[in-house]
Amino acid sequence: MNKVKIIGTGSYLPENIVKNDDLAKIVDTDDEWIRTRTGIRERRISEGENTSEIATKAAIRAIKAANISVDEIDFIIVATSTPDNFLPSTACMIQDNIKALNATCFDISAACSGFIYALDIGTQFIRSGRADTILIIGAEILSKILDWKDRSTCILFGDGAAAAVLKKSETEGIFATYTGSDGRLGDALECSAIPVNNPYVKRKAEKAKAVVKMDGKEIFRFAVKIMEKSIKKLLKDSGYSADDIKGIIPHQANFRIIEAASKRLNINLDKFYVNLDKYGNTSAASIGIALDEAVRNDIFKRGDKVLLVGFGGGLTYGGALIEV
Ligand code: COA
Repeated sequence: MNKVKIIGTGSYLPENIVKNDDLAKIVDTDDEWIRTRTGIRERRISEGENTSEIATKAAIRAIKAANISVDEIDFIIVATSTPDNFLPSTACMIQDNIKALNATCFDISAACSGFIYALDIGTQFIRSGRADTILIIGAEILSKILDWKDRSTCILFGDGAAAAVLKKSETEGIFATYTGSDGRLGDALECSAIPVNNPYVKRKAEKAKAVVKMDGKEIFRFAVKIMEKSIKKLLKDSGYSADDIKGIIPHQANFRIIEAASKRLNINLDKFYVNLDKYGNTSAASIGIALDEAVRNDIFKRGDKVLLVGFGGGLTYGGALIEV
């Protein structure tokens, strides 16, 4: 089995900063409520850029950091719940933008766990010998599927993209991966697409309302439990202890979820890398953005072992223990 390493990361966030006070002008909320319930102070919201555009910018940065030629890329795997189109896939659009013409390209749908799922899929392709070099991307323009009249959801999310290049390596860089799903809880976080509407339909098509609906309390409970389970599983499978780990990059949904997980695991909160105050929940991009930011700011240095852990709509969950 081949060994795999992340050899470069990149991220991109739209320039437009929307602060909590700005949202208080749109919905009945205030900065204090949002900060104390979530930890979020501001988020980036697209002024028109779509998912493939921000994903391409993150990809170019990751390719530069990895110092590879686009011709080397065997697969482009994009995790997104907010593609530009049903067809073509976002991955194919990025392929055309960066001219990575030797790649096989496809999108995956795993909501906020998308970066972890893409990392796991890419790792398995390289392990098995099917590929040498893979570009994974998590990218979302969540703002286009938010109900901007619903104060319980529109304050939580932000737009952003992150990418990483995985490569076959002499030394191991991915010590464990873990994924899972629980479709029974799908309606706790959902956004409908378009209903069946053709000349043969027997029941009248409901008008689609493609906006996020969420049971916040259900997701909160699930997130805390699954973070604990995933981290324990990754440590067990890899044979490392929490003391061997330099830091944990959790999905950036809510600071209180991270706090609760840290308590349950008895792992110091300082070990958790948090940037949700600046970007909110960027779904499939969140873990990748945090990883890129932490590596570029030398918070995690080459050789450090870092745990990534996520959860999201589906419901989906998972994690990875990597060396940066
Ligand atoms: N501003 C002010 N008040 C708000 C508000 C807002 N933005 N959003 C909700 N409220 C109100 C509610 O209407 C409710 O009022 P009521 O008591 O008069 O009915 C009150 O605040 C408490 O709401 P509640 O839903 O109990 O708050 P909470 O402490 O559970 O926090 C979340 C709500 C959404 C912040 C929290 O449940 C959460 O973060 N869940 C996880 C969501 C998540 O991470 N989703 C993405 C996963 S990938």
